[in-house]
Amino acid sequence: MANLNQDGQREQWGSKIGFILAAAGSAVGLGNLWKFPYMAGKNGGGAFVLVYFIMLFLVGFTLMLAEITLGRKTQLNAIGAYRKISKKWSWVGALGVLAGFIILSYYSVVGGWVINYIVKSFSGALKIADADVLGGMFGNLISGTTEPIIYHAIFMLITMIIVIGGIGGGIEKSSKILMPGLFIMIVIIALRAMTLPGAVEGIKYLLVPNFSAINIGVILDALGQVFFSLSLGMGCMITYGSYLSKDTNIPESATVIPLIDTGVALLAGLIVLPAVFAFGYEPSAGPGLLFITLPAVFAQMPLGTLFSILFFFLVLFAALSSSISLLEVCVSYVVDEWKIKRKVAVSGIGFAMFLIGILASLSFGRLSNITIIGGRNIFDSLDFVASNILLPLGGLLLCIVVGWIWGTDKAIKEASNDGKIEFKLAPFWAILVKWVGPVAISIVFIRSLLG
Ligand code: PFF
Ligand code: NA
Repeated sequence: MANLNQDGQREQWGSKIGFILAAAGSAVGLGNLWKFPYMAGKNGGGAFVLVYFIMLFLVGFTLMLAEITLGRKTQLNAIGAYRKISKKWSWVGALGVLAGFIILSYYSVVGGWVINYIVKSFSGALKIADADVLGGMFGNLISGTTEPIIYHAIFMLITMIIVIGGIGGGIEKSSKILMPGLFIMIVIIALRAMTLPGAVEGIKYLLVPNFSAINIGVILDALGQVFFSLSLGMGCMITYGSYLSKDTNIPESATVIPLIDTGVALLAGLIVLPAVFAFGYEPSAGPGLLFITLPAVFAQMPLGTLFSILFFFLVLFAALSSSISLLEVCVSYVVDEWKIKRKVAVSGIGFAMFLIGILASLSFGRLSNITIIGGRNIFDSLDFVASNILLPLGGLLLCIVVGWIWGTDKAIKEASNDGKIEFKLAPFWAILVKWVGPVAISIVFIRSLLG
């Protein structure tokens, strides 16, 4: 009954490229386009990017492979998958579902901003080249009460409707067309941004590390960003992997997906930061960077309005192909384990997320005086708890379960399709899962607890 098709078999991706696109669709999202540039801006630019790359190589690829393999082996949702390996560890999956729940509640608020910017592009309201005026306009939107909540509701509803459509129907089909479209657009816009007068400073800021800017806060942010951006640490790739057929090449997928994701994040950085410098803005300005600098770039482009409409549509699409995966993790669990109808699960969970999202949205306006963790408002606190604590913790536990409980020999057997395909780096991967991943994550955690 749970996630089955008419023949009583588990639903599967329609094709190999379908899975890669859907998984890349989950990975590529607001994390790349909106969050990466502002996290880099906040954490010293090149210093952040350098640490990001180190974390990507230490844990990103490793855990991507571990999650997909665990999912395909067990053919179950995040909690079911852990339980199948060992009854004692099913709570790790529950932790992931909780992280997904928290993330989507505020992710949807940002998705709402994107929809609002599509509307603004159509009306011509964004045709402004002055970054300060654009900053004011963005501030007005997010500090409002009803307007951002209505757009947040619209984003959440679209997500829910797609997820009700199920795996092959909703999620896979749309990714095949829109992902390549996004990539082409973002390259064109990056070329424009990088050739603005004064843009070189921005490129340098992003790519040349200033080592003195590296501290434990930067390292924790970079670690959290790797998990967030690759959709790791909460069982999302376990869930997507569970719909894979036994002949997929997992080592290849686990390499390609992080590469695509990182490429898009860097391109987004190469749009936003050069524009920040070209327009004399502050790199550390925070969550508004994308929304403030992009329109300023479009205003300097021929056919700017058209670009603006198309681009924000593609951002929306990227956000949706991620938000559906966040919702799917929660829904897949509830449908599999509680045996309730997909529609009911989606409605209930979606509505609960919507309510929490309202608080996140209001934390830029009416509730801005409420601070929870280390002076962060509600929105930033939710993001901090999910990205910087729950996801890396989920990743640490994943390493333990796959590396030590299930065992790397069995995992490698599954990942290589019983030795039918090549997995050259298998011995190296085993060391990374068993030792390097857990040690690296623990060190960052302990160091940041000590302050
Ligand atoms: N990876 C997505 C992004 O970069 O926007 C966000 C995300 C999706 C995080 C799915 C976690 C997840 F399970
Ligand atoms: Na991402």
